[in-house]
Amino acid sequence: MNATQVRVGIIGCGMVAAEYATTLAASDCVRLAACADLDAERAATFAYRHSIPSAPVDDLLNPAAVDLAVVLTPPASHSPLARQAIAAGLPAVWVEKPIAVDPNDAAELIAHAAGAGTLLGVAPDTLLGPALQTAASALQRGLIGEIHSAAATLYSTGPERWHPAPEPFYAEHVGPLGDMGPYYLAALDHLLGPLHVRAATAATRAERCIRSGPRSGTGFTAHSPTYIAALLETQEGTPVTLTASFDSAGTRAPHLEIHGALGTLALPDPNFHTGDVLHRPYGAPTWSVVASVATAGPLGRGMGVVDLAQALHHGRSARCCPQRAERITRLAQTLIATATAHPPVPAQVITNTPPSPSQ
Ligand SMILES: NC(=O)c1ccc[n+]([C@@H]2O[C@H](COP(=O)([O-])OP(=O)(O)OC[C@H]3O[C@@H](n4cnc5c(N)ncnc54)[C@H](O)[C@@H]3O)[C@@H](O)[C@H]2O)c1
Repeated sequence: MNATQVRVGIIGCGMVAAEYATTLAASDCVRLAACADLDAERAATFAYRHSIPSAPVDDLLNPAAVDLAVVLTPPASHSPLARQAIAAGLPAVWVEKPIAVDPNDAAELIAHAAGAGTLLGVAPDTLLGPALQTAASALQRGLIGEIHSAAATLYSTGPERWHPAPEPFYAEHVGPLGDMGPYYLAALDHLLGPLHVRAATAATRAERCIRSGPRSGTGFTAHSPTYIAALLETQEGTPVTLTASFDSAGTRAPHLEIHGALGTLALPDPNFHTGDVLHRPYGAPTWSVVASVATAGPLGRGMGVVDLAQALHHGRSARCCPQRAERITRLAQTLIATATAHPPVPAQVITNTPPSPSQ
């Protein structure tokens, strides 16, 4: 054990916690110190697996034992738990995405953390991985010239295919945009700057069925749109299209493409840290792989926690900053509101008069 290691306490010992534990174990600057879960048995199992103590949340949030709380619970509890960690006096808090369900709550949380002197970091940390770092570096050095447009496409069958308890992913204000959208919106924000909404439309396939785990075959209802298509715009007026769906059996659409005056960049799935970034200059017959930027430390979900621990040591902000998290939460909620609240615009009826025989 290293005295300079930041002691990490995980709150929420569900599916993603194991991935975090693996990433944290591969870093010298953090040490998994404790865990907590509303489900005490789940906490005990996770604790046993990682040779750490489990405790109720109130007890885990103790600055004498933990420096950095990692909140890995369903979205509605992110902000309340982060606030609790701040109130307990912890120096740093990491929150899984989204930072909060309500963007105004996110803004208040950020102000609250700043007032208390608590460093806040927010997933996704895929921005720190080599794929998005490579794309950012390519854009910065002008590989594709002035950017003309971008397209992000997220088609999936929905988390009920693999998650044994998928209902929170279909709660109001969640759906594909609230759940998977942050990866795409954070990547676009990181690469192109803040975005705003020009137009959006939505559809909901409400009746769903769990497809894995002990409740497989159980039906449930979606309370958020399960398909959204949107037109976004950067601050410079560059158009960006975004489609997010949990209603697709499969797709061959690219995840994310950026088109510029000199060529196009095609990115891998922004839900992951790695993958090739492809480049095709105008006139080139084929694509080439952009040389990957090297990143330090372990790769995978949790690398943002390692960055946050380093930020704590060096007195800087987290690279996965809460301000971007607030922006993309606001963007996602504006998108859902735009797509669902606006009455459909009736198509203008154009009567085609058949040409007269003399024409
Ligand atoms: N599962 C994934 O692959 C994945 C990937 C990336 C991000 N995420 C994000 O991570 C978060 C957690 O997802 P998950 O899939 O691990 O969920 P999960 O349902 O598998 O686990 C969540 C755990 O949190 C516990 N919990 C709920 N409320 C709590 C509270 N108030 N206090 C303490 N414990 C509480 C639950 O008992 C459960 O064990 C979500 O925000 C999700 O969007 C998940």
